[in-house]
Amino acid sequence: MHTVSLHILQRLAASGTFLSGAELSAEFAMTRSAVWKHIRMLRTEGYGIDARTGLGYRLVSMAGRPLGVEVGPHLSTGRFGRPIHWHRSLESTNTTARSLAAGGAEEGTVVVAERQSAGRGRLGRSWDSPSGVNLYFSLVLRPRLPMERIPQLTLLLAVALHRALTILDGGLRPAIKWPNDIFVSGRKLCGILCEMQSEADRAHFVVAGIGINVNQPAFEGELEGTATSIRMETGRITSRPALLASVLNHLEPIYDRWQQEDDLSFVQRELEENAFLQGRRVSVERMRGTLEGTVTGIAPTGELIITTSDGTACRVASGEARLRK
Ligand code: BTN
Repeated sequence: MHTVSLHILQRLAASGTFLSGAELSAEFAMTRSAVWKHIRMLRTEGYGIDARTGLGYRLVSMAGRPLGVEVGPHLSTGRFGRPIHWHRSLESTNTTARSLAAGGAEEGTVVVAERQSAGRGRLGRSWDSPSGVNLYFSLVLRPRLPMERIPQLTLLLAVALHRALTILDGGLRPAIKWPNDIFVSGRKLCGILCEMQSEADRAHFVVAGIGINVNQPAFEGELEGTATSIRMETGRITSRPALLASVLNHLEPIYDRWQQEDDLSFVQRELEENAFLQGRRVSVERMRGTLEGTVTGIAPTGELIITTSDGTACRVASGEARLRK
């Protein structure tokens, strides 16, 4: 979207009433016909704008895009989502957020895209990112914690996502799949990809990338049968701006608390009670070979606890736990 169109949209949203063409043209230093062109562009983007002779323009409905102007009214955070950089298309929101963070962007900065041409998943996988239906966003974080605690962040994000999804209309029953997924009905609904830039023994910044399948009607190919969306599960269309705000609203307080605590104990019960893998037989590939056993918990420090057939409880810090038949 044209930057000037965006500014006009912000101005109309902030005013809440009619703004005359003369006012807008003076404020944005352009002719009234140029203002009209931007109004027409905003309408084609899906924004309902009333135009009345003698009164001017009034914003009457939003388009349902995760732009700052649409997410803002749902935000109750102090820092997260302030600001939100919206893009129609990016290679990966993580890549863009990384360069913003490297350039000094403040903690809480969010990069969101309508589509990604090279969305990334964990372990070198790609993240399917069709346009206009889902949420793809990355949050810049600057945790003031020693490096060994940074992997806990993925589980903290999973808790915030779990909370935001649980309160949605439609009775979704999400489960947290250690370490970075949210599953519904045995299929993947969200993925988390945290990427860190470190200096000495401290994280300089972390980019927390989140993909949520929101309104996608169906999946094809290899994702059919393994991925799902909120729409497929509930039959409802979910507001992407409201959902993005809800995730940030849930995350900010637990992120702040996490930095004052020694570990994840304060959300451990939630992690275990909603764990997709709890009580299931899994295998995990490790340097020393494959570990097989039953998932018996999540440690306060975030590791997966797998109890083997001889009763030994092993802690797994990273990797992928595969379900065994
Ligand atoms: C996974 O499940 O493997 C993690 C998927 C993470 C996808 C999100 S979408 C927004 C952000 N940008 C990316 O390129 N990846 C993350």
